[in-house]
Amino acid sequence: MGNTGWWQHGVIYQIYPRSFMDSDGDGVGDLPGILERLDHLTWLGVDAIWLSPIHPSPMDDFGYDVSDYTGVDPVFGTMDDLDRLVAAAHARGVRVLLDWVPNHTSDQHPWFRASRSSRDDPRRDWYVWRDPRPDGGPPSNWLRYVGDSAWRWDQATGQFYYRVFLDSQPDLNWRNPAVQEAMFDTLRFWLARGIDGFRIDALVVLVEDDQLRDNPPNPGYRPGRDLPYMRELSVWNVNRPETRELAARMRKVVDELGDDRVLLAELGLPLEQIVAYYGDSDGIQVPFNFELLTTAWDASVIAGYVDRYLAALPAGAWPNWVLGNHDTPRVATRLGPAQARVAAMLLLTLPGTPTLYQGEELGLEDVPIPPGQVLDPIARLVPGRGRDPERTPMPWDGDPGAGFSTGRPWLPVGDGNRARNVAAQRDDPASMLTLHRRLLGLRRQTPALVTGAYHRVEAAGDVLAYVRAAPGARWLVALNLGPSPARLAVPGPSLAGRVALSTHPGRDGQPVGGSLELAGDEGVVVECESGSPAPTSIS
Ligand code: NOJ
Ligand code: MG
Repeated sequence: MGNTGWWQHGVIYQIYPRSFMDSDGDGVGDLPGILERLDHLTWLGVDAIWLSPIHPSPMDDFGYDVSDYTGVDPVFGTMDDLDRLVAAAHARGVRVLLDWVPNHTSDQHPWFRASRSSRDDPRRDWYVWRDPRPDGGPPSNWLRYVGDSAWRWDQATGQFYYRVFLDSQPDLNWRNPAVQEAMFDTLRFWLARGIDGFRIDALVVLVEDDQLRDNPPNPGYRPGRDLPYMRELSVWNVNRPETRELAARMRKVVDELGDDRVLLAELGLPLEQIVAYYGDSDGIQVPFNFELLTTAWDASVIAGYVDRYLAALPAGAWPNWVLGNHDTPRVATRLGPAQARVAAMLLLTLPGTPTLYQGEELGLEDVPIPPGQVLDPIARLVPGRGRDPERTPMPWDGDPGAGFSTGRPWLPVGDGNRARNVAAQRDDPASMLTLHRRLLGLRRQTPALVTGAYHRVEAAGDVLAYVRAAPGARWLVALNLGPSPARLAVPGPSLAGRVALSTHPGRDGQPVGGSLELAGDEGVVVECESGSPAPTSIS
């Protein structure tokens, strides 16, 4: 594969369009709004934007319930708006990726309306319909995401349909070749319009066992901690071999238009199963690695994971890292604002493609949503798991609408986040935004940080340290994951150099000799003197 693809060098920025920028005052972000704010992204230095779904949708799941895969929902604008955005992004050298939701449609999609209308409808077999068991119960014991049966009874035609998410998100029947072709055609439609790739939603649940075999119970289930569906081991309805084969076909479709189109995929699987989705010409280029979303924030745990992950990658596979997304509490809330800075340095210096979630560059935190204003349906179905807090609007300035909207934002901005706005941070050398911009700038200028080899450096206590090395260049990254100061002894001259960037302003250019002092919650990137031998360890 080589290290040449734009998506290998680049940083991907996830936009949640409802909350990025509202251009028309209806309180919901839109495509002209993204266009208006594109300069923020080029100033920041990202290489690609991935837009969460913008297609026509009843918005039961805020766009992840698609009723037309080749259109644009009026709340976001028009097809012309999208074309303009893509052209403007391309003119700035920024790629545009769309979210593609193949597992399920909206129940308002014409395909499902037809499918549901009669057992004889030609589209009946486009979805997964089954008779009850002889006792009248659901066809298998499979659970959906929120923990009840994944089968939904449909009175009108006297069968169950299968759905992993909401009732209004019926699963497509990917065993049907007509479904495959119709969905592949939606990819072709966007590729022909200049879209640079796709993030594939919920890929693991694409296909289910055709014999409907029951799942076994999960002996390790931790009630209250694990999502309720985890009380069974989803062996028969998740990550089936047919899904991997279909991923290869998806790749073939995007490769029809050249080799610079990219597929990202949400898998949410253990490491060994994620890496199976790689494949030089028949795999997903960026099967998301979600480990940093949930890992214990512990230096040896993370260092161990990096080692295992890199070792598990098949030849030619390219790593990737994710710190946050629209489904997970924000990193600054999980780790606190000081460690969020360290986490940003980690994300942007580990080997592999980083994905930034909008607002992470500002250190946005989760916004508590008053009970009467909760919108995410998951909050009702799995109490405590609602995703509104991490989906609140981007604050652009300190106005009441935060520069996001002249109307009433669809979710509250939150006072804390309003104060973290772009205008307030832009020229502040100590801000989270400046840290992100500098990290992105450093990556751009420093091939070793992008394509260089990774060498773990042994460090004690809370310190996570590694070197990124390329011919003639060596960069030491040392991250203090704890609140107390730490001191690293740097053996010999091998890692002597100067501080290129610290999470704590004021250290730029500082020489590093026999030891490196780190403040609590501090991370530094050190440019090592050239010509010194490759390091093996720090104690
Ligand atoms: C994963 C998406 O990220 C999430 O937001 C959505 O609710 C489910 N897939 C269903 O599409
Ligand atoms: Mg499915």
